Amino acid sequence: MIMIRIVTIGTSVITVAFAAAVRTVEGIEIAAVYSRDAERARAFAEQIGAPASGDGLDAVLADPSIDAVYVASPNAVHAEQVRRALAAGKHVLVEKPAVGTAAEWSALAGEAARAGLVLLEAMRTAYDPGTAAVRGLLPSLGVIRRVSFHYEKRSSRYSAVLAGERVNIFDPAMGGGALADLGVYGIHALVLQFGAPQSVQAASVPLDAGVDGAGIALLGYPGFVADIAYSKITDSGRPSEIQGEDATLLIDEIASPRRLVRRGIDGAVSERIVDAPPHPMAGEVQRFVELIRTGATASEDIERTRITLQTMEDVRTALTPPPSRARLQRSAETAG
Ligand SMILES: NC(=O)c1ccc[n+]([C@@H]2O[C@H](COP(=O)([O-])OP(=O)(O)OC[C@H]3O[C@@H](n4cnc5c(N)ncnc54)[C@H](OP(=O)(O)O)[C@@H]3O)[C@@H](O)[C@H]2O)c1
Repeated sequence: MIMIRIVTIGTSVITVAFAAAVRTVEGIEIAAVYSRDAERARAFAEQIGAPASGDGLDAVLADPSIDAVYVASPNAVHAEQVRRALAAGKHVLVEKPAVGTAAEWSALAGEAARAGLVLLEAMRTAYDPGTAAVRGLLPSLGVIRRVSFHYEKRSSRYSAVLAGERVNIFDPAMGGGALADLGVYGIHALVLQFGAPQSVQAASVPLDAGVDGAGIALLGYPGFVADIAYSKITDSGRPSEIQGEDATLLIDEIASPRRLVRRGIDGAVSERIVDAPPHPMAGEVQRFVELIRTGATASEDIERTRITLQTMEDVRTALTPPPSRARLQRSAETAG
């Protein structure tokens, strides 16, 4: 079996998780680590068991023994790094949200296709067995009329933001914010199950940091309406839901569904527990390996990411954010 040798970009916890996921999948290994800092690269390579490291991206990408790149840098940096990796002839797995716009994604997908390379967004939800289980249960719900997906989790880094620190995932210059970080899961799940929405309305909670801390989008589909909620500043205890005319499906977590409860209008209640995969990110790694091995085109995956990114753009366009407290305060001071 051919071994796919991948280099990682980014040295945060998500790359540690990725390395653990890679260990559960046959035919792929981490060959090197890239960091902007040579010492951090070396220490991180040791931490995740990679045999090589470097702080020069072009030098790492020029290594002919490297087949692929995993991009786990801040969102705003993805596009440029993906472009460089593709130009160097490497397959690319890029963290969610892949890039900032659907047009940018289509351009990169075109470059990958012309070069015969795989480009895939590391959207774990799409390759999670729980998502497939939800799909399998849809016909048993009858005509779908309401969908409510959400991912609302207070970030461990929010306290730092409140203390006035600059944190990438809350930094607009880094492509941060709740829609980009967590809203993407609900939208991707919605697009996977039901395709592109016909209409988009939205409201958000702007933070002084310049990003949205939370938000809701209302998405119109033929015959039903969906809402997507996301928050990085509060927690939620409610499940996601798909309501059909015959039954309602309760989903414990939309990003990785494990407990699915079907409540029929006849009063019958049934529960399905989905076995967890060997690692939450194993599915995306498996899909990446399969696409490289078989030479199959990732057109379905590429299109789902494109529609998700387009929908996120539509949400941003639909937002007319009220002025932030800082701006209000400034105008009051100016007026005073
Ligand atoms: N799939 C999931 O479940 C999941 C979970 C969390 C995050 N993510 C995604 O993973 C990506 C990284 O998120 P994160 O929160 O881990 O980001 P982060 O900690 O802010 O940055 C990740 C890495 O990127 C490098 N980096 C930091 N700032 C940079 C800059 N200004 N320019 C270039 N490189 C920079 C750093 O590595 P060096 O300094 O060593 O170069 C850092 O370790 C995002 O796309 C996020 O959406 C996915």
